[in-house]
Amino acid sequence: MASELLLEGKCCFAPWKRKYMQIQGLFLVRAHFGWVNFIVRKLSDRIRLTARLARWINDVLSRRTEARSLAFDLTHKTKTFERGDYPVAEGLSVDERCWGYGPINQDFFREIMRSVPVDLSSYSFIDVGAGKGAALMLASEFSFHHIIGVELSGELIDIGKRNVECYHRSTRRIIDPEWVRADFLRWKIPEEDALFFFNNPLPKDIALQAVQKIVEESFKTSTRSIIVYRRPPGEVPRYLAMNPSCCPLRLSPYWEIYGVGLNKDGWLAGKAKNKET
Ligand SMILES: C[S@@+](CC[C@H](N)C(=O)[O-])C[C@H]1O[C@@H](n2cnc3c(N)ncnc32)[C@H](O)[C@@H]1O
Repeated sequence: MASELLLEGKCCFAPWKRKYMQIQGLFLVRAHFGWVNFIVRKLSDRIRLTARLARWINDVLSRRTEARSLAFDLTHKTKTFERGDYPVAEGLSVDERCWGYGPINQDFFREIMRSVPVDLSSYSFIDVGAGKGAALMLASEFSFHHIIGVELSGELIDIGKRNVECYHRSTRRIIDPEWVRADFLRWKIPEEDALFFFNNPLPKDIALQAVQKIVEESFKTSTRSIIVYRRPPGEVPRYLAMNPSCCPLRLSPYWEIYGVGLNKDGWLAGKAKNKET
C-alpha cells in the first residue's frame, strides 16, 4: 500500500490512515506496559481522579525500566548505565551546548527492532550517537550485516569499545562494530542500505538536520534507508510525515519507523517490505 501511494506521488498518508497506523502501533508497545501507560496518561489529562494513579504507574514503570537497563550491565559486566552530559556538535564544549547520554533499554530496543517490517539482513545498522554502545551490542542479536556507531565523544567511544569486549566475553557472540568518531552532520554516510537508529540523540534543530541529511543522501544515491526514531523531537515527526520520499512503516506514541528512498522502480523499502513480509 505504501509503495503504491509513493508511486502515485502521494506518500503522505491521509490523516485517517496515519491515525489507524498509530492505533495499531500503540498496541505494539507492550514492553513495560507501554500502551497501558499511554492510555492511563491520556485519561489523566482529562479526568483529574486518575492523575495520581497515572503518576504512580509512571513511577513504577520508570523504576522497572531503570532496573532492566542496569540488569544489562550486571549480566554482561558492561558499563552503559551511567548518564552524563556531552557536547552536541564538533568544536563545542559542554558549557556551550550539551545533550544527555543515556542507554537504550534492552526491552524497548528488541521490541522496536522486531516491529520493523523488512528483512534486516540486507541493511547495515547505524546508531546515530552510539554513546557507550548499548544499541550496537543489542543490534548484534539481529541479522544486520554491518554495525556502525557514530559518536562525537572519544571518551564514550573508549568506554563503548571496552563494553563490546565484555559483551563478547559474556555472550560469545562475534560483534565487530565499526566505531566512527564524528559529528553525524559532517559524516559521509556510506552508500549502502541502512537502518538509522536514533535514541533521542540530538536537540530538535540538529535532529531535523540529521534526518534531512539521511533523506537527501538516500535520494541522491538511490539507497534504501530506514529511520527508526525514538521520541522524535520538534519538527521531525512533521517533516517525516509530510515528505513524499518518506513512508511510515510503523507509528507508535514512543517511536516512529519510516522507509526512505526512491529510484526509478519506485520505493525500494516498500518493495522490500512487500516481498519479505
Ligand atoms: C541518548 S545517547 C544514545 C546512546 C545510544 N544510541 C544508546 O541508545 O544507547 C545520545 C548520544 O548521542 C551523542 N551525540 C550527540 N550529538 C552528536 C552528534 N552531533 N554526532 C554524533 N553523536 C552525537 C552523545 O554524545 C550521546 O552519546
